[in-house]
Amino acid sequence: MAEVGVDIERAAAFLRQGQLVAIPTETVYGLAGNALDVKAVSSIFETKNRPSFDPLILHVASLEQVGPFVSEFPEKLKCLAEAFWPGPLTVLLPRKASVPDLVTSGLDRVAVRVPNHPLTLALLAQLDFPLAAPSANPFGYISPTQAGHVDAQLGTQIPYILDGGACAVGLESTIVGMEEEQVVIYRLGGLDLSKIEALVGQVIVQAHSSSNPSAPGQLASHYAPRKPFVLGNLQELVPQLIQQGKEVGVLSFSTHFPSLPTDRQFVLSPSQDLPEAAQRLFMGMRLLDESAADLILAEFVPEIGLGRAINDRLKRAAAQPTH
Ligand code: TXA
Ligand code: MG
Repeated sequence: MAEVGVDIERAAAFLRQGQLVAIPTETVYGLAGNALDVKAVSSIFETKNRPSFDPLILHVASLEQVGPFVSEFPEKLKCLAEAFWPGPLTVLLPRKASVPDLVTSGLDRVAVRVPNHPLTLALLAQLDFPLAAPSANPFGYISPTQAGHVDAQLGTQIPYILDGGACAVGLESTIVGMEEEQVVIYRLGGLDLSKIEALVGQVIVQAHSSSNPSAPGQLASHYAPRKPFVLGNLQELVPQLIQQGKEVGVLSFSTHFPSLPTDRQFVLSPSQDLPEAAQRLFMGMRLLDESAADLILAEFVPEIGLGRAINDRLKRAAAQPTH
């Protein structure tokens, strides 16, 4: 297993040697390597078993550090970055040649963000290169929101996990870019759309393409548990499947089911608080995936605020894999 700790110097030393380190962010844990070192970047793809057509996000310490990597920063996107960085927002910008092709999968835009976690911000401030970091999970599986999640799946493959506790937001960053003069959302995430629209006006949401996605976070099946994952009306499904003799696991928004053992149910937010539900979503999916349940039943949350991103992840968890 990897060494788990809070030693920024040690994390920085591994990264300077071209090794990978798992880093905490406010959204999910990242699997980080020196973005300018092609060998380190290729080992990110290998470690995650990630196809090389799926580009990586550059993580930098501040807005000022973006300059060497992008050729343009459109006004509206800059306004969003100024308002929400450090935070759960990733911006797609025209890239400079300084960014290795492998990071962008050969695309002409690079994804950039300033993550909001004190340990990772302190780490980035010590480094003289940006970090390329996808979520620290095997490709297609649920993103990790605790150091232990990373250790369980990638611990034998990396030397160090920087432990920043449980991620405060719990959903991956919202990805934005421009097409013509229009702001486009490519992935719903931890930054609520209404906050974006309050600053730049109405946006287009393009987060549901299925074939040949421009961002593989758009693949229909993603963030998926290994057990069958079924979405529907829990009040009907739970008794029906118990009747059929199934050992059901239940991921509910706020309802506790007295008929089920506690280790086979997970309530996202008893008080129906969407940020709390988002923060706990991936942990709940993992716990149920590891439980004795035969299958997991889940329900949509209200389609407002962060509820849209939560429902997006639930749909992808329920989709049949196509790869
Ligand atoms: O919250 C997050 O964004 C986390 C933390 C670690 O920062 N990272 C994350 O990375 O979720 P990843 O690799 O799991 O998802 C990044 C998404 C991918 O779907 C990728 O295709 C898209 O961003 N992306 C990255 N660069 C892109 C580019 N140049 N053009 C289009 N999409 C891009
Ligand atoms: Mg990911």
